[in-house]
Amino acid sequence: MPGHLWVVNAGEEAKSWHSLSSILEFLLMHKADQQSVLVVVGGGALSDVGGLAAALFKRGIRWVTVPTTLLAMVDASWGGKTAINFGGVKNSVGIYHWPSHWIYDLKMLQTLNEQQRFDGWVEMFKHAIIGDFSLLDAIKAYWAEYDASGAESTRTLPLPTQVLIESALRVKIRIVQEDPFEGDMRRLLNYGHTLAHALESSSNLFSHGQAVWLGMLFELQLAVQCDLLAESEARIIFEFLRLLTPFSGYTNVGPANILPEWNRLWGYLEQDKKVRFGQITWSLPVKVGQGQVGVEINTRTVKELYEIWSLNPF
Ligand SMILES: NC(=O)c1ccc[n+]([C@@H]2O[C@H](COP(=O)([O-])OP(=O)(O)OC[C@H]3O[C@@H](n4cnc5c(N)ncnc54)[C@H](O)[C@@H]3O)[C@@H](O)[C@H]2O)c1
Ligand SMILES: [Zn+2]
Repeated sequence: MPGHLWVVNAGEEAKSWHSLSSILEFLLMHKADQQSVLVVVGGGALSDVGGLAAALFKRGIRWVTVPTTLLAMVDASWGGKTAINFGGVKNSVGIYHWPSHWIYDLKMLQTLNEQQRFDGWVEMFKHAIIGDFSLLDAIKAYWAEYDASGAESTRTLPLPTQVLIESALRVKIRIVQEDPFEGDMRRLLNYGHTLAHALESSSNLFSHGQAVWLGMLFELQLAVQCDLLAESEARIIFEFLRLLTPFSGYTNVGPANILPEWNRLWGYLEQDKKVRFGQITWSLPVKVGQGQVGVEINTRTVKELYEIWSLNPF
């Protein structure tokens, strides 16, 4: 059976009607049928649009995902969510369609730049915080070994080992298997993302990883403020998140001067998908390796904390 190749522009622009329709046209042109398999090789943007094309074509054909970024390996390519951005709103058109196979090769990661590595690590840190305290310890140990090697001074972010990648992925798999259609538990994966999505919408100054990293730092304070998380546990998570500081891009210039004012931020926070009856619900850590979804917090409390936190975020 012959194979055919179609190249789609990478990055967020891949998640458009235009590239979705170009993939569907490609499938039609090559007379793909219900036995055909679409193999999607690329980062999370590609798996989102490719998976959606596979879901729509002839009411659904099989697809295989071959993630090539760290973020896609540990997060985006696994979980069945597919989407494009529509009407200026991220992921507003999509469907659940699980890939039949997931194939990866760590060698692909060698060409990732610092920013792309950082973005992937941030999601791994998140998985450790909300779902696996032993992964948190394993990452800390890996980091300590790396520091000891003296390489930190060169400020290059290491790539994780296969064991770390698979442990981080296992957290996602466990949560998704428990709640495939994001009824409840799956929202745990949203830790750090409530603030992050608002930051990303407010300006293009933040990469997804930077926004989620800042989001986790802020939402950690929220968890303490609401007495969900003991100070001692918060300290462990805080120190853990701070391992990423030298690679965050904020080494010299603090983010305080680029974080939006509360009034502007609020407009975006209100758009969060976890808003229920006008009330934002948060996904927060309750101890190291464990989180809770659906936490409602009074807006005034969030505002006051944000105004203090944003002066000195890490
Ligand atoms: N479906 C989900 O569950 C889910 C979860 C998280 C994120 N996402 C989506 O994933 C996307 C982000 O994923 P991403 O960070 O992989 O972004 P991406 O797919 O936009 O890729 C980022 C950049 O990396 C480049 N790239 C890809 N592989 C490379 C390699 N091996 N070497 C060098 N460069 C490479 C791409 O060309 C692109 O410029 C977002 O659109 C987000 O919404 C989806
Ligand atoms: Zn994310």
